[in-house]
Amino acid sequence: MADVHGFPKLPVDDRPDLAAGSPAYTNPIVIRFGTMPPDTMEFEINKALVARRFTNRAAAYDGVSSRQATMAQALLGTTQARMASAPGRILELGSGTGTLTSAIRRTWPAARLVAIDLSQAMLDLALSKADCADVDFRCGDAESMIDELAGAGPFDLVISSAAVQWFADGPAAIQGYCELLRAGGLASIATFGPDTFQELSQAFRAAAAEIDRPPYQRVLTFPAAAAWRQALAPPRLDVDIIEERQTEWFDTVPDMLAAIRGVGAGNANRHYAPIGKRLYAAMTRAYRDRFGGAGPVPATFHMQYIYCRRAD
Ligand SMILES: C[S@@+](CC[C@H](N)C(=O)[O-])C[C@H]1O[C@@H](n2cnc3c(N)ncnc32)[C@H](O)[C@@H]1O
Repeated sequence: MADVHGFPKLPVDDRPDLAAGSPAYTNPIVIRFGTMPPDTMEFEINKALVARRFTNRAAAYDGVSSRQATMAQALLGTTQARMASAPGRILELGSGTGTLTSAIRRTWPAARLVAIDLSQAMLDLALSKADCADVDFRCGDAESMIDELAGAGPFDLVISSAAVQWFADGPAAIQGYCELLRAGGLASIATFGPDTFQELSQAFRAAAAEIDRPPYQRVLTFPAAAAWRQALAPPRLDVDIIEERQTEWFDTVPDMLAAIRGVGAGNANRHYAPIGKRLYAAMTRAYRDRFGGAGPVPATFHMQYIYCRRAD
């Protein structure tokens, strides 16, 4: 659907929440921009917006998330190969509609499984899956539940696929969750790395420069392997990170943006600056000129599989 200017209309859930009392309202964009230097690239996650996006996309999620399903499958296979014995207690972070949760259940049916997600709508769909009937689902922000979950541990396995990139500080949270592992326990995390959507970031920066706008960060930022290694530092944790890059091709830039939004993954920067007609046009032009030419346009997906074993 197009707006009056002929540009694709953003779904309502892709706009910042400016309702009185909402987190975005209590930290208003206009004031924050007024206090930031003009070239700021600050990115701060708006969790209320993340939760709302996934809630709004929950019903469609399983039909459009083949990349996430493949990632979850790869993570479970490699995790299984790293487990010396069947885990007795498992904690899953950002379980969504239960794609990985149900596979975990089938792999280790005797394990006690706790699964957390920010969106109750995503959890409701997970609960409706036959394999997930006896999972202990909890709704909340996994970054603020480490102490609360200590009572359900210690865990043999903490696992998460395609979720911790939505955390304000994923490496710090996983470091905290590693404290809940029993000696020899494993944290297995699949997430996206900094090359993900690099074309979109570059196109936005080129467009902003072309029309003389500040280069605000409009694409989710992702911690690099070095940041993970620094947070999950030895001697108590033994870290192994496997990285993989894939290119996906889309007919047009709007098709690519629609696919990102389709899985609930639109920009969730608290410091939201409206894109506007001129910037959008300049960005799509820059994207095509730099990466696509007259044909389809590429988007890089940089996957990181992080395995962290507690030594003591
Ligand atoms: C892309 S989905 C992935 C879901 C599932 N793991 C999968 O592989 O299909 C990301 C999920 O992480 C959840 N999430 C994001 N931030 C979270 C947070 N801070 N705490 C708990 N869950 C979070 C979202 O609600 C969403 O369901």
